[in-house]
Amino acid sequence: MDSIVIEGGHPLSGEIQISGAKNSAIKLQAVCLLTDKKVTLKNMPRLADTRFMGQLLAHMGVDVEEGPGSQMTLHAKSLSSTTAPYDLVRKMRASFNVLGPLIARTGAAKVSLPGGCAIGARPVDLHLKALEALGAQITLDEGYVIANAKDGLRGADITFPFISVGATEHTMLAAVLAKGKTVLNNAAREPEIIDLAECLNAMGAKITGAGRSMIEIEGVKSLGGVTHSVVPDRIEAGTYALAAATVGGKVKLTNLRPDHLGSLWPLIAQAGSDVQLQADSVIIQRNGTELRPVDIDTQAYPGYPTDLQAQFMAMMTLADGVSIIRENIFENRFMHCPELSRMGANITVSGREAIVRGVKSLHGAPVMATDLRASASLISAGLAAKGSTTIGRVYHLDRGFEHIEIKLGQCGAKIKRVSE
Ligand code: UD1
Repeated sequence: MDSIVIEGGHPLSGEIQISGAKNSAIKLQAVCLLTDKKVTLKNMPRLADTRFMGQLLAHMGVDVEEGPGSQMTLHAKSLSSTTAPYDLVRKMRASFNVLGPLIARTGAAKVSLPGGCAIGARPVDLHLKALEALGAQITLDEGYVIANAKDGLRGADITFPFISVGATEHTMLAAVLAKGKTVLNNAAREPEIIDLAECLNAMGAKITGAGRSMIEIEGVKSLGGVTHSVVPDRIEAGTYALAAATVGGKVKLTNLRPDHLGSLWPLIAQAGSDVQLQADSVIIQRNGTELRPVDIDTQAYPGYPTDLQAQFMAMMTLADGVSIIRENIFENRFMHCPELSRMGANITVSGREAIVRGVKSLHGAPVMATDLRASASLISAGLAAKGSTTIGRVYHLDRGFEHIEIKLGQCGAKIKRVSE
């Protein structure tokens, strides 16, 4: 199993190019199930998660071609299976989102329930209720969802009881081929939802309102092929921005959409870094200024993203004072706290809040990655700490960060991957 070894205490200096968004890419891959024409995705990140999704789609008979460069072509000319087995779904929860497109295209599907994960129970009740509202008959059998819609799906008026990114996207993926109009109320507004809608609309779908809390979908009979470029990864960008702000130095991030991180930039500035925003790049600089404490409160977009909570906390462990980090989206997303504490951080968790009392310095230690974004906070802390940090279970990182050690290495970080 690979580890990442970091010699901390060196400021970062250089340029990092941001990849396509993992969270968008894996849903865009599922789009291919809605058409017998080719779907070509550009700016695709090369990650364990996009590979898992490719394997699941290939299992269903989709022709998956990687390259050239960061391109992936998916062709679901005909489907040989409408079953998504547990072994493939368990590797990545979002692969559950093939259920909707499979029912929409074929009228039947059998997809394994994804189960919980380290950051919480993560049920899929909203997904299933929305698909039922569209006319799918759903039964659960031995951990599988068995869905049928022999006469096709029909549009419906759906109000989500709370905001769910996955349920919003999943319902869109099913409703595009339903008969009649679907209205989604209290929909998620993340940039990845707009990306999905733009891709589907380019294939002939009729979706309006993506990015707002009411989305309208006029069902169409069929969808054509498409070439679509994946939106830049705002979470990867935010992770490197926070690493630069935590460690100090000057880093330019390129190929991103700074407007997708509107909640982050003022907080980084408040904490002591200079933030220069350009059309598709950002410069983060901190030379000598002390880190100041800043409270954060995670919310659905456009609020502060839960996927950047751990990385912000890593920065606050070194601030000159006390900060309060509140996690509102997932019930168990503080597993990085004991790991950061092993490096000398002073953190007290109480329910959904973590109180972080800044310390003068962190020290290197052996630590364990517990989930995808938490592992990024350990990288940041390791880069800022005195001495050597070894991070185990880096497969979590490989799920969502493309070439992290290469990108940081280009900015002067002393970071390497070690295979045992
Ligand atoms: C997506 C992102 C993830 C991010 C999260 C919130 C992907 C692949 N993952 O996850 O990185 O952290 O959005 O921005 O895009 N819930 C239910 N029932 C449901 C669905 C969700 O109770 O049917 C709960 C979840 O357990 C969670 C909350 O709703 O507590 C929000 O989850 P959701 O927005 O659905 O997150 P994901 O789509 O799973």
